[in-house]
Amino acid sequence: MSDDLLKKVISHSKEYGFVFPSSEIYDGLSAAYDYGQLGAELKNNIKQYWWTAMVRMHENIVGIDASIFMHPNTWKASGHIDAFNDPLIDNKDSKKRYRADVLIEDHIAKIETKINKDVTKAAKRFGDSFDEQQFRETNGRIVDRQKQIDEINERFKSAMEAEDLAAVKTLIEDLGIADPDTGSRNWTDVRQFNLMFKTELGAVSGDSGVIYLRPETAQGIFVNYLNVQKSGRMKLPFGIAQIGKAFRNEIIARQFIFRMREFEQMEMQFFVKPGTQEKWYEYWKEARLNWHKALGFGDGLHRFHDHIKLAHYAEAATDIEFNFPMGFKELEGVHSRTDFDLKQHEEHSNKKLRYFDPETQESYVPFVVETSIGLDRMFLATLSAAYQEETLEDGSQRTVLRIPAPLAPVKAAILPLIKKDGLPEKAREILKMLQLEHNVQYDEKDAIGRRYRRQDAIGTPLCITVDHDTLTDHAVTIRDRDTMAQERIPIADLARCVQEKVGLAQLFNSAS
Ligand code: GAP
Repeated sequence: MSDDLLKKVISHSKEYGFVFPSSEIYDGLSAAYDYGQLGAELKNNIKQYWWTAMVRMHENIVGIDASIFMHPNTWKASGHIDAFNDPLIDNKDSKKRYRADVLIEDHIAKIETKINKDVTKAAKRFGDSFDEQQFRETNGRIVDRQKQIDEINERFKSAMEAEDLAAVKTLIEDLGIADPDTGSRNWTDVRQFNLMFKTELGAVSGDSGVIYLRPETAQGIFVNYLNVQKSGRMKLPFGIAQIGKAFRNEIIARQFIFRMREFEQMEMQFFVKPGTQEKWYEYWKEARLNWHKALGFGDGLHRFHDHIKLAHYAEAATDIEFNFPMGFKELEGVHSRTDFDLKQHEEHSNKKLRYFDPETQESYVPFVVETSIGLDRMFLATLSAAYQEETLEDGSQRTVLRIPAPLAPVKAAILPLIKKDGLPEKAREILKMLQLEHNVQYDEKDAIGRRYRRQDAIGTPLCITVDHDTLTDHAVTIRDRDTMAQERIPIADLARCVQEKVGLAQLFNSAS
């Protein structure tokens, strides 16, 4: 994948109504985007896939919808006021601002690329007898480079743990890291920047009215832990899921909808008995990877990346990374959050947030394993994996979005072959029959081939053509987006057939 693909996805998204720059008539607002008519459908379908997998398919997971504004003490308790910072550094010449940790990570990524090139070359040279692990462990150049990476990681980790920002700057200087845009090495000191957006409540001004836009949806779940546990008579282990907006004043928001200041999260906090968290952490890692893989984008697009620098609340954490057009990047996090959050809320609220275990007759604060995925990132992953330009057998070109059928914004297009002879009326009857269950579109404009191309470009899995024979044989032709194969189906079987081809059920053979 490449930057070129990202550019194509961005312009395709705008041309077909998936994503527009926010307030574009005023020249847009940096890193803010609006989802258009097809984007909103795709987003809803991703949400539905996630909600079904989490809430409907698990008897012990329920969903909530908490408010974005929360009592400010929430953020004191959660640690976000004190610790939700990114280390920031400016280049004095270019006046550009960077995250110090990202500059270091990018430097490491360059060394990793060199290692991978050597491995690929060797694999070609040795063919079937190539043992990658042995090569990585014994090749002098690779061993040296891996040592460099380990040393950088170690220095960065201890500098951050000691909150020694001067040491982070020295590391950047020692590595000779330059401004990626201008090559200048003239850096300011590194300083911490809190990512929460502040605003004021009602007419109160000054510190007493300060309120924050939530930087994660998770805290809305923690503060409702006991409400849900008691009102739902939930027994450990159980989960609370939520989909909603989160806000972060990112130092650099970039790469289209990958990093935004306003975005949406789908999070699930799984409350477990202390001591069992490791087992559940492994369970959710696997379950979430399966959820992604069930979409059928193929092998090699996902990988785990364990965190070296753990967030202030985590005991173990991993990212599910996706091979975006810009390379492998975080799509989802799975975190073992211990009892940190509930204990902190107990302390700051003076309310007990315990679980009474009927088996052991003990009360304790549950541990939590969290899964947290960015909806916008999932949207970008889906579009970039789905976007394809193809040359067909007859030499013509088509752009097709191979979006997994259950996620496709439009499930079927109903196309009368021509605009007369009663075909439009028949097509509209079929539209009516399907539209309660699925988002379907009617299109009678242009030659049928051009209509197919338009539907391919927005990822519609099925085109249903009504022709003159339909009026007598009561059957239609269904064209498949991916194979372009056509089959004749009786109208009486159509609803069942469409449901089978585009329904969510097909994703649940391997997803949990
Ligand atoms: N509650 C844990 C939590 O918020 P996180 O790793 O900071 O963890 C979880 O965020 C997910 O939210 C990420 O994996 C990513 O998909 C998404 N996300 C985070 N920051 C984002 C941003 N600025 N723009 C878009 N998505 C973002």
